[in-house]
Amino acid sequence: MEIYRRAIAAFRGLVHAHEAIVIGGAGTLAMEMALVNCLQPGDDLLVVTHGVFGDRFAQIGRRFRWNVRTLAPAQPGQAVDPDELARALRGGGFRAVTVTHVDTSTGVRAPVEAYADVLRASDAYFILDGVCATAGLPEPMDAWGVDYLVTTSQKAIGVPPGFALLGLSERALDRRAEMGEAIGAYYADIANWLPVMRDPSGYFATPPTNMVVALERAFRLIEAEGLAERFDRHERQGRAMRAAWSALGLELLAVPGLEAPTLSVLRYPEGVDDAAFRAAAEREGAFLAAGVGALKGHVFRVGHMGNATRGELLTVVAAIESALTACGHPVQAGSGVGAAAALLGAAGEPVRR
Ligand SMILES: Cc1ncc(COP(=O)(O)O)c(C=O)c1O
Repeated sequence: MEIYRRAIAAFRGLVHAHEAIVIGGAGTLAMEMALVNCLQPGDDLLVVTHGVFGDRFAQIGRRFRWNVRTLAPAQPGQAVDPDELARALRGGGFRAVTVTHVDTSTGVRAPVEAYADVLRASDAYFILDGVCATAGLPEPMDAWGVDYLVTTSQKAIGVPPGFALLGLSERALDRRAEMGEAIGAYYADIANWLPVMRDPSGYFATPPTNMVVALERAFRLIEAEGLAERFDRHERQGRAMRAAWSALGLELLAVPGLEAPTLSVLRYPEGVDDAAFRAAAEREGAFLAAGVGALKGHVFRVGHMGNATRGELLTVVAAIESALTACGHPVQAGSGVGAAAALLGAAGEPVRR
């Protein structure tokens, strides 16, 4: 219980939340929870989407029969212009707006601060999906006016899957109180969880206790590294990986300025087969993720977040070099590794305790 209490407090501090909920589940549960604790039948939901995970908010919204409107850029890899968001909001009436900080399907880092400026003038609840960003990029909920920051344990926090984590604003709590009994959820009802989060010796539903230990340890590692250093390291690692891609002639899907520091989504060079390429990389020790949705077969995805070390990142670049060459796209061995290593310097290692 004491470990659980510390983990909840650490998460709340990390994202500057008024209160936090940390329960067994996946990131998708956290997304759904934010929505069901805000919206009621007949409500309008505005979804700003930069890929498959942004679209997921719209899918949840349709399932609950809210009126869903989506804003998406013209091409994958681009972002919705903040002026377009402002225009959509001028129509008024949206109960909530969702934004995905980093969409893991496209590697786009949303211009969240610009959106936050626009959203300040609106009374819509601001729901931010931090799944592929939290603990790798700053997410000051208070300064950005975020009402729900939803995330999970298995990305930049750096432990196995198992948790849905939510940071809540005071406004979010007021909204839930206003809804009273008119909520179509039980496990996902924050009102059932808040008393346990305030005093983990209470019970609502059984938490994954082994994972509580892992999560609390992860937050201690994050604290030991220092947040400023951790965020800076993610930026540095992102730049280093991009230097490698450029040396290898690989092209990111995300347009310049929107590249996520936490992962790279790369277009396949002409003629390189997805399955063969990823199998070749895996033989060299690197597990690369396939594209999702419409991008499947056209891109591959490389994570460089959490407690990834300099050595691990260079191994991945070396595996990609070999796999490209094995798949008929010869590259000069060591060119990507050299470009990345030059930027990672000696300080690419996070604290490990
Ligand atoms: C940006 C983003 N949001 C939401 C999710 C859903 O999280 P989970 O798979 O834990 O349900 C993912 C999963 O990869 C994601 O990348």
